[in-house]
Amino acid sequence: MRCYAFSKIISLDDLVLTERPDPVPGPRDILLRMRAAALNFRDLAIVRGHYHVDVSPPLVPVSDGAGEVIQIGSEVTRFRIGDLVCPTYLPEWIDGPIRPWNVRRRLGGPSDGVLSELMCLHEDEAVRAPRHLDAAEAAQLPVAAATAWHSLFQLGSVRPGETVLIQGSGGISTIALQLAHAAGARTIMVTRNDRHTDALRALGADDVLSNGAAENWPHDLLNLTGQRGAEISVNVAGGSTLTRSIAATRMGGLVHLVGYAAGTIADLDIFTAIRHATTIHVATAGNRENLEDLVRAAERHKIRPVIANLFRLKQIRDAFAFLAKGGHLGKVGLILDF
Ligand SMILES: NC(=O)c1ccc[n+]([C@@H]2O[C@H](COP(=O)([O-])OP(=O)(O)OC[C@H]3O[C@@H](n4cnc5c(N)ncnc54)[C@H](OP(=O)(O)O)[C@@H]3O)[C@@H](O)[C@H]2O)c1
Repeated sequence: MRCYAFSKIISLDDLVLTERPDPVPGPRDILLRMRAAALNFRDLAIVRGHYHVDVSPPLVPVSDGAGEVIQIGSEVTRFRIGDLVCPTYLPEWIDGPIRPWNVRRRLGGPSDGVLSELMCLHEDEAVRAPRHLDAAEAAQLPVAAATAWHSLFQLGSVRPGETVLIQGSGGISTIALQLAHAAGARTIMVTRNDRHTDALRALGADDVLSNGAAENWPHDLLNLTGQRGAEISVNVAGGSTLTRSIAATRMGGLVHLVGYAAGTIADLDIFTAIRHATTIHVATAGNRENLEDLVRAAERHKIRPVIANLFRLKQIRDAFAFLAKGGHLGKVGLILDF
């Protein structure tokens, strides 16, 4: 089988088409023909050599994908041939709280990822894709959507009528918006320009603040919420933006610190945090159960992940450059046309 792999160093210059032996499924394994993939910010962080987990070559990159089951072992019960499934990003985290032993393996680094013609997985390490989605859409879900789900519905619990403030318009932000909207929340987006305002409204945003680069946007949020603030905020950028998310969250509210798009060191004004008595939750992706719950919710509410751009495999470097440039709405997809 063919796959893309970093052979000697972790660099896009060393991402080469490689031949490996076809995997042979054991009794509880499924063999997938991979159809599509999605890039995440972590894939970019890994090639930039700036990720919080050590990864080393040889490595098949990219965490998110979807593939068709083409062979099953004799004891497999969860899947049938022909099913469209998504490998789980953290294969050993099935349910319950996160523990050191269930995050040892991570697809796309340090473990091999999805840029492969074939993938052989234990049947416990995959989730059936939503029936209304094609492979390119399903491939967007495992990291971003499961992280959003884990934050909004496991670490926290969004209730109908609550205000959820979501920063950004990228992969995590758009699916968090769709999920919070489906849960009956009032959703307010804060972005750094007005390019995607109409699209965010079409996805369910009740209000969009497009002055997210300005210092004082929390005042506008407070004005929109009768000076109360959001019950729940999702912060995807970290850096200097965390304190502003806290300032825009009501007293006793919850901030989900999910990402570091603006920097891995966050400025935290402790007086603001104390004044707001804020709880800050930090998520590491989600577990299989989160992804399964999400699949049911996506089917029920006909949620389709937003794909900003879909690249062919031979355009893989363009896809990384597109993600790095930023300013996109939703996620960056790849068709695995080996
Ligand atoms: N904790 C986890 O397990 C987990 C899982 C998935 C992702 N993440 C992290 O979450 C972050 C977002 O991921 P993603 O997939 O949504 O990435 P993405 O699609 O590239 O989107 C990046 C987002 O960050 C915002 N942004 C970038 N720089 C900013 C700044 N200086 N100030 C304010 N906003 C800024 C952008 O907002 P605009 O719309 O304003 O441009 C955009 O929405 C990344 O850091 C990623 O590593 C963490």
